[in-house]
Amino acid sequence: MAVKRIDHIAIVVPDIDEAAAFYRDVLGLTLERIEHVAEQEVVVAFFPTGDSEVELLQPTTADSGVARFLEKRGPGIHHLCLEVEDICRTLADLKARGVELINEEPLQGSGGKKMAFIHPRSTYGVLVELYELPRRPRGLDRLALEVRALRAGVSGFWEALRTAPPIEQPNGNGKGITLKAEGDIIPEG
Ligand code: CO
Repeated sequence: MAVKRIDHIAIVVPDIDEAAAFYRDVLGLTLERIEHVAEQEVVVAFFPTGDSEVELLQPTTADSGVARFLEKRGPGIHHLCLEVEDICRTLADLKARGVELINEEPLQGSGGKKMAFIHPRSTYGVLVELYELPRRPRGLDRLALEVRALRAGVSGFWEALRTAPPIEQPNGNGKGITLKAEGDIIPEG
């Protein structure tokens, strides 16, 4: 299996606000956001750390896997997430080697990512999550930023034109300038 990097390490906590304050104020991590992930019955605090993230999870119901983990084992590392090249091939390889999989087929996550879990019975006690992330060509983030800046510039220019006092044009055709917005070329997610 071809592992690219650790995507995130998830830690289950009983009180997300208290734990997030500790990770932010005492350990000095940057808290990016806290989000309720309804389908997983958790509130998640995201702390980007370079190419990876630390996630704190607080269960929002009493009977989810995360809630039962917390009940049985107390706070601690809940899972480790590895980004892999090709999740379908990875799962097939692991299955062929007799590894116990929680998901034999990848689940569709938000933003086009594919995910699956390996059972801790096969991994020396650690729940391992696998991610395959949608490909993002190099430079696309920069391009998206530049297009956004360009759009802001165009709309600012248009707004200035729209609100400017009328100017008598020498040829008086009354058409002014036409600005044409091109379609969105930035794939989301
Ligand atoms: Co995860």
